[in-house]
Amino acid sequence: MTPELVVLERTAFAALQDGVLDVYAEAMDVRPEAARSRRSILAAHLERDGLAAVGAVERVPGSDGPGRLVGVAYGYRGAPGQWWHDQVRAALDEQTARTWLEGSFEVCEFHVRPAHQGTGLGRALMSCLLSLTDAPTAVLTTPDADTRARRFYRTAGWVDLARDIRFPGDPRSFAVLALALAPGPVDAAVLEASS
Ligand SMILES: CC(C)(COP(=O)(O)OP(=O)(O)OC[C@H]1O[C@@H](n2cnc3c(N)ncnc32)[C@H](O)[C@@H]1OP(=O)(O)O)[C@@H](O)C(=O)NCCC(=O)NCCS
Repeated sequence: MTPELVVLERTAFAALQDGVLDVYAEAMDVRPEAARSRRSILAAHLERDGLAAVGAVERVPGSDGPGRLVGVAYGYRGAPGQWWHDQVRAALDEQTARTWLEGSFEVCEFHVRPAHQGTGLGRALMSCLLSLTDAPTAVLTTPDADTRARRFYRTAGWVDLARDIRFPGDPRSFAVLALALAPGPVDAAVLEASS
């Protein structure tokens, strides 16, 4: 079964919140209950300008059910006053922030269930997600370690803007990464709100 890429409009994305958090829990190897505690953060992100989201859905052959979410990527246009944006802004010099962060699309979550990793799904999700924004650049933070995600971003052309940055309450060291974007069409179904 090859998962299908689905562009998630705001309401459809909101309806999938539990699935999004379950994918996050599995990919990041945290308990589902811990992931569910992020529900309020996700709910706040649903209100952000320029929200774009893509899911990878596995459908059971012969069934017309909604299918199972096995991967997800989403982000939005960041702005001053938002916690993550301000943390990252403080880690960059003036020129770097002006070039890469202002008006940028911030990739907030990007996860594939372990059983589906390494099959090209992450690359397809990210490529689809970034085609949905007309922002000139994309930025994200990722743990600054030799992870699959770090290798993914390196081979996909993301560049390091800053390294060894810390977020309050998290002992890990993070890198700030950015990518210059060229908008283009994408081959994916669009999931409209069902209500
Ligand atoms: C990061 C993640 C979303 C990538 O999804 P994926 O489906 O595994 O990625 P793909 O199969 O599309 O692989 C894309 C690239 O990643 C790298 N990659 C994937 N699997 C790899 C592996 N086992 N070893 C080394 N590099 C690997 C390669 O560069 C690969 O490109 P290539 O196949 O052309 O060589 C996924 O691994 C994941 O969910 N990781 C855990 C959660 C996480 O860290 N998310 C990011 C938070 S910032």
